[in-house]
Amino acid sequence: MTERLTTYYRDHWVEVEPERMARYEAMFQWRDGHEALIAPAAIGTGAVVADYGCGPGALSIELARRVGAAGKVFALDINAAFLSRTAAAAAKAGVDDRVETRRVEGAAIPLADASVDRIVCKNVLEYVDDPAATIREFRRVLRDDGIAHASDSDWGSVVLEPLGERFDALMSAAGIAFRTPRIGRKLYGFFKAAGFADVRVQVLAAPDTTGGLRPVIANMASYARQSRRMDGDAIDAFLADVDRAIGEGSYFALLPQFLVTGYGRSWSAQ
Ligand SMILES: C[S@@+](CC[C@H](N)C(=O)[O-])C[C@H]1O[C@@H](n2cnc3c(N)ncnc32)[C@H](O)[C@@H]1O
Repeated sequence: MTERLTTYYRDHWVEVEPERMARYEAMFQWRDGHEALIAPAAIGTGAVVADYGCGPGALSIELARRVGAAGKVFALDINAAFLSRTAAAAAKAGVDDRVETRRVEGAAIPLADASVDRIVCKNVLEYVDDPAATIREFRRVLRDDGIAHASDSDWGSVVLEPLGERFDALMSAAGIAFRTPRIGRKLYGFFKAAGFADVRVQVLAAPDTTGGLRPVIANMASYARQSRRMDGDAIDAFLADVDRAIGEGSYFALLPQFLVTGYGRSWSAQ
């Protein structure tokens, strides 16, 4: 693999060109359907919460509303532009009194030991250098009565009919954008190894028959294009066939989300 491709999984988040920034802003909006993805984190009033890999901030703002004025949200990301957008969104939503942005610069999370009640991490661990080490960091910064909760995809568990085999080829090219594309199935083991008192896991998968996942498929296509491992015309033809399947009603997709929740030391007594 060339040097450019070897580090693309990280570099494409550190530098986000305007076209992708606009696409991500639209993709990462908070939606009612996301409620189930963060429910196990049990966010309550007054909690100090870290949103690890906050993106442009939609989830951080939602968390800030839930913790109220007595709570606090640390919005953490490797991308400085996402942090600026999160700060601006917090000001617009009137919750900037409780949202603090911090840049992640290496393996360590920029928070003190045992300093947060909750960590929420949504669709981020597939990109980090060493997910087991990041989850150990979650354990370090969490209070004993805290909860760390991650949800992520597993790109080896996607269903896309009637284009499944061609999607596998596309994902093989798009894989440059991920450090651990099959992160979903690995999260449970990583949380167990990090020493949480208890670890619970759920898998949620809502069937998509109308093209709701079309932006996600288009995003994968853009990564495959970047890789130059798949012919551009073949990618265009693939997307046209996805659209045709949606139009004809033969399209059926599943993108399971793996939810893993780790409980701090004092939960073992409960
Ligand atoms: C797919 S987006 C998810 C954004 C948000 N959590 C959401 O679900 O809407 C992935 C985010 O992880 C961030 N990210 C990637 N690698 C990271 C790392 N090593 N440490 C912290 N954040 C990272 C990216 O900059 C991006 O904001």
